[in-house]
Amino acid sequence: MSNKYYNAIFTPRTGNMVAERQDIQTLEDIKLMVDSFYAKMKDDPLIGPIFTDKIQDHWPEHLDKMYRFWQGLLLGEHTYHGRPFPPHTQLPIGIEHFERWLVLFRGTVDELYVGPIADEAKLRANSIANVFYNKLKYTKES
Ligand code: HEM
Repeated sequence: MSNKYYNAIFTPRTGNMVAERQDIQTLEDIKLMVDSFYAKMKDDPLIGPIFTDKIQDHWPEHLDKMYRFWQGLLLGEHTYHGRPFPPHTQLPIGIEHFERWLVLFRGTVDELYVGPIADEAKLRANSIANVFYNKLKYTKES
């Protein structure tokens, strides 16, 4: 794990170096969050194939979009001008995929960061996942 993103704290009693998590503060932090999240998703047996089938060799473009999406939500720097929902309407996804997506997202944020913006990331992910899931349900039922 790169220590660039951590404060190394020297503990006098044991003499060990321990890593202290900080909050999300910069675009570099967002990139680390997104890259780590997608690394987990690609390896996940339930959700990984949905991404790899759809994205194929367009990972750089997709990740760049996701950096900008979260940069806008968490840092107030609005560089994403897309429409997040429509691409999801054609995907074979249900409640179990959203639940897995959220478990992996929360796990990633908690591993790397702590603080109000990290909390905001988890809250926003949760509410957007809810909106997407309900819109998809409604679209499929009507
Ligand atoms: C079951 C869970 C989800 C799956 C399997 C999934 C999968 C995908 C895939 C495959 C794409 C690329 C689509 C394409 O290029 O045509 C995509 C795009 C995207 N997803 Fe998701 N997604 C999920 C949930 C979410 C959630 C909860 C969020 C937001 C918090 C989100 C935000 C986005 C955004 C911003 C894009 C880019 C849209 C654009 O083209 O501008 N996704 N997603």
